[in-house]
Amino acid sequence: MNKLTVQSLQWTGTALKVLDQRQLPDICRYDEYSDAAGVAEAIATMRVRGAPAIGIAAAYGVVLSAYRHYSATADNWRQQVAADIDRLAKSRPTAVNLFTALDRMSAVLGLVSADPLVALLACAEKIHADDIAANYKMGELGADLLTGAKGILTHCNTGALATGGYGTALGVIRSAYQRQPVHIYADETRPWLQGARLTVWELAQDGIPSTLIADSAAAWLMKSGTVDWVIVGADRIAANGDSANKIGTYSLAVLARQHGVKFMVVAPTTTIDWTIDSGAQIAIEERHQNELLPACYFGADSLVRAWNPVFDVTPAELISAIVTERGVILNPSTQGVRSLQ
Ligand code: MRU
Repeated sequence: MNKLTVQSLQWTGTALKVLDQRQLPDICRYDEYSDAAGVAEAIATMRVRGAPAIGIAAAYGVVLSAYRHYSATADNWRQQVAADIDRLAKSRPTAVNLFTALDRMSAVLGLVSADPLVALLACAEKIHADDIAANYKMGELGADLLTGAKGILTHCNTGALATGGYGTALGVIRSAYQRQPVHIYADETRPWLQGARLTVWELAQDGIPSTLIADSAAAWLMKSGTVDWVIVGADRIAANGDSANKIGTYSLAVLARQHGVKFMVVAPTTTIDWTIDSGAQIAIEERHQNELLPACYFGADSLVRAWNPVFDVTPAELISAIVTERGVILNPSTQGVRSLQ
């Protein structure tokens, strides 16, 4: 098993340390949070990002809430923890892992009749540990599909930074790299530059070389014939296999189909939203226009506006394989995805 080189989240026993991903790769700094409001803010402002990491952070946020509010004598602590769960749920809308994790923590709260601290911490730590285990499993299953592959293109950051450790799509890439020489191309991933700032940095921490490309170079790269697979993560997968991921993923899937390149989505089953039949039901986060606009257009009287959706949905028919810790679905369909439930 590979060692974990980068950790985006560390539980200290009394606080959650969050690696501030907005500062990478220039500054590697952890912020320490001791309440749920701080964790919710860290998620909303993308200090911590990536679907599984968001879910894990939120779970520890519930633990922090209980540490703060639980009292054997006061009887209103449950309402205060519920309010914090609500606050955490509002931090970002698209990654279903956030809601899956909060549901699991709420279920634990519902079961305990007295001091909830031990049970809540055990649940958060299990969510964290299960995610790492799932990533290692997916790494092997995904790498099995890559025999003979010479070039892989990935998008956004799906590595240890975005998860409990090792990564989803980047975990598959790590596992494949150990088995065979394979060249990794990373999209810079506008506008937040998760590829340029995080993915190539993370790979370099492991001694894995990579080539960064502008998002707009992807078609030309595929046309050159040097890429066999596009491998990406997901923030929410519908029961029919439609997959929401970082904006730009859909364009890559269309380009991959045009150029005969295979397209793999790697995500733990905590990313599957069993309650929705198709990607049309996925809420797509739109972030503030100022994340995209040059500052000279920030004024209220500016004639220039920006549209900033940060996810898109790739239809299942453009996906060659969905890799989960419970197995691989080739040419995903509702029947295939439901077989994992
Ligand atoms: O906006 P972000 O950086 O949180 O978006 C992250 C992604 O889109 C990832 O590809 C996805 O969460 C999968 S991470 C294992």
